[in-house]
Amino acid sequence: MKTVSDLGDLRGKRVLVRSDLNVPLDGSTISDDGRLRASVPTIKGLADGGARVIVLAHLGRPHGTPDPAYSLRPVAVRLGELLDSQVFFARDTVGEDAQAVVAGLGDGDIAVLENVRFNVGETSKDDTVRGAFADQLAELADAFVSDGFGVVHRKQASVYDIATRLPAAVGDLVRAEVEVLKQLTENPERPYVVVLGGSKVSDKLGVIDNLLSKADTVIIGGGMVFTFLAAQGHEVGKSLLEADQREIARGYIAAAAEKGVRLLLPTDIVVAPELKADSAATVVAANQIPADQIGLDIGPDSAAAFADVIRGAKTAFWNGPMGVFEMEAFAAGTRAVAQALTEVDGLSVVGGGDSAAAVRQLGFADSAFSHISTGGGASLEYLEGKTLPGLAILDQQSLEVQSTDGRKV
Ligand code: 3PG
Repeated sequence: MKTVSDLGDLRGKRVLVRSDLNVPLDGSTISDDGRLRASVPTIKGLADGGARVIVLAHLGRPHGTPDPAYSLRPVAVRLGELLDSQVFFARDTVGEDAQAVVAGLGDGDIAVLENVRFNVGETSKDDTVRGAFADQLAELADAFVSDGFGVVHRKQASVYDIATRLPAAVGDLVRAEVEVLKQLTENPERPYVVVLGGSKVSDKLGVIDNLLSKADTVIIGGGMVFTFLAAQGHEVGKSLLEADQREIARGYIAAAAEKGVRLLLPTDIVVAPELKADSAATVVAANQIPADQIGLDIGPDSAAAFADVIRGAKTAFWNGPMGVFEMEAFAAGTRAVAQALTEVDGLSVVGGGDSAAAVRQLGFADSAFSHISTGGGASLEYLEGKTLPGLAILDQQSLEVQSTDGRKV
């Protein structure tokens, strides 16, 4: 894949950078700016090199219509603070305001365009509709840099189609993310421990399937535990249960046994009658959840056992909280897993989304882990072995350049 330096001297050139600035917002307050911090080096590097930087990004899923609740304006303000530089903001993506803002950029200036998903063409399944929007985006610039790792699994105009219309390269963030994920998929140092949490088994099917042939131990926590417990014939009370996934969970338990992979489930659970921060929490055995209780975290014995296994890993990947970490009463399991990850003598990777927010909310420094991925869905799809459209198209573009001018890029 081509990198930014392969695009030549970008001084005075208009460069579209697709970043993933999809941060959690509480009103207009950003509760975790990790993705913005991760996006800064590429944007800054281009601006320092004299490029006219035009940042493209999405926020939420506004389904093709402008919606002030999903405006990138507060994000552009925060980005300006992190860059310690003025960041211009366009009130649309390819309309009059965007065109005027781009036309007014000087060398080294930076602009953020309004949410790409305010345009139906961005996420359309129709190649022609998406392509027409990508054409409009391409008119704004001379080159494209793909740096939004969190969206490379999306076949969308600003991720995929745009790369066929401008000289394109990957930014440092995408390159770094792919390097780490490669270490997890190609010959990881062993023992290789994978910790999966989060609420739904159905979100993690592909990754569990794939990792059962790669990892030495797969640890299951979070809401999806209850589907596994139900699959083993246990009562789960009022806990989250995907009844239609029980058979699949049973299949994973059998497959793990057959492949000699250790599949660890919690042996105790923190339960409460209601999902409320002050609801009376107690610890029960995982196979004895009372009918009127909800499982909201893994219990202390499970947390200690999981932490022991994680600490012994040479490679550890974690995606998904162990419980409702946003409430202190149910945060201990997630905290224990995060702490153990920081003690791994080897590669420790936190896979995006909720787990990245969790480690920061629980007070861990990013530097305590080898890598915190900015991509939740993207990192999981990579680990599933899927083709990620945003990466595949850049590979393909590089190969085409290679075959037309005969040199390797
Ligand atoms: C994410 O939050 O994982 C990325 O920004 C992708 O967002 P999406 O799932 O709405 O495409």
